[in-house]
Amino acid sequence: MGQDTISITDNRSGKTIELPIVKGTTGPPVINVASLYKEFGIFTLDEGFTTTASCQSKITFIDGEKGILLYRGYPIDQLAENSHFLEVAYLLLYGELPTEEQYKDYKYHITHHSMFHEGLKKFYDGFRPDAHPMAIMVGVVGALSAFYHDSTDIHDPKHREISAHRLIAKMPTIAAASFKHSVGQPFVYPDNRLGYVDNFLNMMFSVPSESYGVNPVVKDALDKIFILHADHEQNASTSTVRLAGSSQANPFACISSGITALWGPAHGGANEAVLKMLGEIGKPGDIPKFIERAKDKNDPFRLMGFGHRVYKNYDPRAMILKKSCHKVLEELDVHDPNLDTAMKLEELALKDDYFISKKLYPNVDFYSGIILKAIGIPVNMFTVIFALARTVGWISQWAEMIADEGHFRIGRPRQLYTGADTRSYVPMKDRK
Ligand code: CMC
Repeated sequence: MGQDTISITDNRSGKTIELPIVKGTTGPPVINVASLYKEFGIFTLDEGFTTTASCQSKITFIDGEKGILLYRGYPIDQLAENSHFLEVAYLLLYGELPTEEQYKDYKYHITHHSMFHEGLKKFYDGFRPDAHPMAIMVGVVGALSAFYHDSTDIHDPKHREISAHRLIAKMPTIAAASFKHSVGQPFVYPDNRLGYVDNFLNMMFSVPSESYGVNPVVKDALDKIFILHADHEQNASTSTVRLAGSSQANPFACISSGITALWGPAHGGANEAVLKMLGEIGKPGDIPKFIERAKDKNDPFRLMGFGHRVYKNYDPRAMILKKSCHKVLEELDVHDPNLDTAMKLEELALKDDYFISKKLYPNVDFYSGIILKAIGIPVNMFTVIFALARTVGWISQWAEMIADEGHFRIGRPRQLYTGADTRSYVPMKDRK
């Protein structure tokens, strides 16, 4: 049987061409439009990439209608329930769950790359104490390129692996240091006796003058947050990493560009924006006013933590975190008025025709912010936590792109030009 195709006729000339339909493992097939320009002299336009696949990938699959998220074929709820972040990171990076032997070796490497070069510490001194930690992350992660020259040959698979290990290992250290800088406390070095999440919590919250123990419920909740944020297909920041990487830039620079794209409130910055919004709403009684504002086309206000480009029935990550959120608040005996507001907001929005008809549901960031706040993570660190976890997805997608020699080429979108047509330069004295 031949390949499936779709016929396209240019009604201006009457010429018809056949475009191949390419099927993936699951999910909608794609039309390969690469020959359109050659055949018809036209480009395609898809602002916001709502219908355009930017690459082929074996890493993550999302079915937005059914609320399915798979990492390398494994449903996210099974991974969140049975696995832990470091194992999930291995799965995303290497494609399979590790054997005991493989995991031991990989864990050794991650653990022994967790310190950063002492020279990098000086970078922090250059930042104001009130600098947003995401600003610090963009700078410090980009600066890693200046310290680890021995792993930046992107064409060498060993270099790619070492830089992936370095990034996964050092992100918690870099993130915790950005917090310590903001509160004026000494940096805490990684402790190789601790696991990945415990070590991060220890670097965040321990101080030289006191002993610190990690609460297992807190650890479990943070581990879940890390797992759920680890990858999400070709979102804005991952696409940014891929585009930066397509020019053969070094991996540290590429991840820094991903952090930049993640920062915005429409993407990773939403978890911080949710908490700000809940604070602004104040008491549950004022929610209807804010719901009306969110529905008003002339008001820029949106319900943060609601809606998703892909999930149109529910966000499976939000379902998992909702449970985790209640557990943490109970364990820590936190009574957070923001949570009451959040629960009431969810209830009212889900009954409102506007939100129902537009299929706007709470997304992962609706709950992650409440958990992070309860465990003592300051609001301006929320997106840093997201960046820490998403680094695994970014570097896995970057490595996949570069290893895929048959398809690896610089990303170079085209445009529909709507500016002035050719015109002649006018000397200043003759301009009106
Ligand atoms: N509150 C009120 N109205 C909304 C919201 C919202 N949160 N989200 C979408 N809409 C409306 C929007 O006004 C538009 O209405 P209309 O069709 O009348 O013009 C319609 O729903 C479709 O919205 P859109 O902006 O075209 O959808 P999008 O797919 O481009 O945007 C989104 C997706 C996530 C950026 C958007 O829903 C949003 O801004 N949500 C709030 C921010 C947020 O929570 N972001 C985190 C996303 S999950 C974490 C991550 O993956 O980064």
